[in-house]
Amino acid sequence: MQQTEQTVYQDASRSVDERVQDLLAQMTLAEKIGQMTQVEKNSITPEEVTQYFIGSILSGGGGNPTPNNVHEWRKMVLSFMDASLQTRLGIPMIYGVDAVHGHSNVVGAVIFPHNVGLGATRDADLVERVAQVTASEVLATNVHWDFAPAVSVPQDVRWGRSYEGFSENTELVTEMGVAYLRGLQCKNEHGEWVLASVKHFAGDGGTEWDSRKDMPYSSSTNWQAASLNWRIDQGDTRVDEATLRKIHLAPYKQTIDAGAENIMVSFSSWNGLKMHAHEYLLTQVIKGEWGFEGFLVSDWMAIDQISEDYYEAVTTSINAGLDMIMVPFDHKKFITTLTEAVQKGDVTQERIDDAVSRILRSKFNLGLFEQPITNESHVEAFGSDAHRALAREAVQKSLVLLKNDGVLPLPKSANVALAGLPADDIGFACGGWTIDWQGKPGPITPGASLFEGLQIQLDEGVVYSKDGDFGAKADISVVVIAELPYAEGEGDRADLTLSEADQALIKKVRGQCDKLVLVIYSGRTLVITPVVDLCDAIVAAWLPGTEANAIADVLVGNVPFTGKSAYTWYKSMDQLPLSNLQASGEDPLYPFGHGLTY
Ligand code: BGC
Ligand code: BGC
Repeated sequence: MQQTEQTVYQDASRSVDERVQDLLAQMTLAEKIGQMTQVEKNSITPEEVTQYFIGSILSGGGGNPTPNNVHEWRKMVLSFMDASLQTRLGIPMIYGVDAVHGHSNVVGAVIFPHNVGLGATRDADLVERVAQVTASEVLATNVHWDFAPAVSVPQDVRWGRSYEGFSENTELVTEMGVAYLRGLQCKNEHGEWVLASVKHFAGDGGTEWDSRKDMPYSSSTNWQAASLNWRIDQGDTRVDEATLRKIHLAPYKQTIDAGAENIMVSFSSWNGLKMHAHEYLLTQVIKGEWGFEGFLVSDWMAIDQISEDYYEAVTTSINAGLDMIMVPFDHKKFITTLTEAVQKGDVTQERIDDAVSRILRSKFNLGLFEQPITNESHVEAFGSDAHRALAREAVQKSLVLLKNDGVLPLPKSANVALAGLPADDIGFACGGWTIDWQGKPGPITPGASLFEGLQIQLDEGVVYSKDGDFGAKADISVVVIAELPYAEGEGDRADLTLSEADQALIKKVRGQCDKLVLVIYSGRTLVITPVVDLCDAIVAAWLPGTEANAIADVLVGNVPFTGKSAYTWYKSMDQLPLSNLQASGEDPLYPFGHGLTY
């Protein structure tokens, strides 16, 4: 090819459609199938990316380089990008991550509240700004694709992914989901933006509790088999079509109208049929009825659940409408299988061309052919004070004051005793999907705890004992309890009643203070009925992230409480799921929208 002559697809002055058509016409079947293949970063080398024309690489939760920092991330992604640019046609790969509350895999990133907290802010403008800052931190690592926002509408908080949903209410989810999408996809001053993946289509928040013991995976990389949790995650949503559309599909239609170009399909099923095999919803509804021109990506090894016969799993999912497959481990097997299916006519050449056109369109829209590497200046802003200030605002606005007999705001001169391990633990404040897939307690990444915040905000500071052993009586005690971090089905729980240990801590501290303020770190509403009367004030802080010190700003009254719970607080487990409560006509402990103020 002559250096001076650009072919049509390389010419940025041509329309995206012209470029896609020109490029597609030059591609071999192997190059096309490569574009449809998404591989986990530890399962492939840059050399193989060139060899197999791989279209996309991802980091799963905890898929981090060593050492885990912004510079190393940037280099890691660059090595895959370079490899893709060395292919015959030089088609850039696209790298995907789960930056689901900030760039949450990367040490030093600003970690925002999980969506359960953002929903409580009821502030779409704030959520858009949060997503914009997240995009900037994602771009700092050379990444252009974020598997967010989740627009799940969790109907049963026993689900371990409840915190990924902004609310149990579809309108609120839609409003926040659209805002988040706008923030990620907003073009910055360098013309860059981050492709959002709206997930998980559809009905992931509507699955039914199931005491099944047999897990759907039968592979050797079966992390589920070890765990007996997974009782509702990846399950079956059993509702009629009108209900599915009203509760679960609405956010997708609205985000598509707002510019979504990518949707991730759900592990779950609708009335027994796996979403990854659902031709009606994937092709007829999304691409047909809604006119979606973007591409559909599968979830992690999810097509393997369609059938034990991999050939059937591949043909069924591609024919149902999946455009890119998150393989994620064995790309050779996927490529061989899909190639064979095309050769045998079980997947048509048109279906392949349609899938590849959709993927290429986003790559052209993103400007990857012109600018495969992001602007270096994002690195400097990564984890900056300005970004942390926004997270602090998000935490302040996410807090929900469930109960207050007047003890809050804390007088600055008060003698305050603080109890509970999570009060000075960033890992608890961040929850799952932070540094590691499941998250974990401890100083996992830089941040400021509630303890640090109270030390600064109160005149006399605060006495802290994680076990609540104070020796002397305090005017006011603040007790912080938390759910242990979890992600996905690992967090499925049959019983959300506060643990015996948490109840015991509250009772112990109750005996050593005049007034007791309970602060709860949780990914969902819990059953707190047994302790409500022991507390003079109760604050739901959700999973606040690295700027947990912001809770102190509100406790002392520098900033008012404005958050409104985006989920119902149940009196007892019998009231769950939401449909049960609604059918019973009973009152919950605190309804959706509850939130006191001062
Ligand atoms: C990965 C996650 C992925 C999960 C499957 C984990 O091993 O780290 O990113 O989501 O497997 O659900
Ligand atoms: C999760 C997705 C995630 C993907 C990649 C899956 O297990 O369900 O939400 O985007 O892994 O980490």
